Amino acid sequence: MSVMDAIKTRKSVRSFLDQPVEDEKLRTILEAGRLAPSASNRQEWRYVIVRDRETRKKLAEAANWQTFVGEAPIVIVACAETDNHVMDCGQLCYPIDVAISLDHMALVAAELGLGTCWIGAFNEEKVKAILDIPEEVRVIELMPLGYPVDSTTKIKNRLPLNMIVKYERW
Ligand SMILES: Cc1cc2nc3c(=O)[nH]c(=O)nc-3n(C[C@H](O)[C@H](O)[C@H](O)COP(=O)(O)O)c2cc1C
Repeated sequence: MSVMDAIKTRKSVRSFLDQPVEDEKLRTILEAGRLAPSASNRQEWRYVIVRDRETRKKLAEAANWQTFVGEAPIVIVACAETDNHVMDCGQLCYPIDVAISLDHMALVAAELGLGTCWIGAFNEEKVKAILDIPEEVRVIELMPLGYPVDSTTKIKNRLPLNMIVKYERW
């Protein structure tokens, strides 16, 4: 599958089959995240992989009771172990870098026939307490991972290029 095909195939999956994800596929997905670029190659991303059913259920509760989060066989908890470095452009590195890494993972998951969903609606303190994540570590996103119930391609509702791209000047 080409990268563009993976981008077109990836969609938010909110319904998962009760089917485990092969260790080899998980490893390939994590490897894609590991190889991502980051500002000054800081690599501040850290991942907690949760397979335990009870823990997944607790994470779903911490994610504003989005129950589908706990129904996936794996929840990837994307964190940052960070010194809060700000780039010269004024932007914090770690949310950008973790997002790039996690998106690499979501695209490879799509290539491997797996579904994901970005989850930003969660209570960070609750997630930290559930997983014993140290105070100084930030939790950036949750990402359920598993085989989708519906693997058909979804039409993407997106702004047209002429609304988001300007050439030469704003
Ligand atoms: C940073 C981020 C946070 C998101 N948080 C949630 C969430 O908490 N719950 C949810 O169901 N979807 C969440 N989404 C999924 C978006 O709603 C979805 O990506 C968007 O509607 C486009 O649909 P698509 O992913 O199927 O292309 C999030 C997506 C992003 C990128």
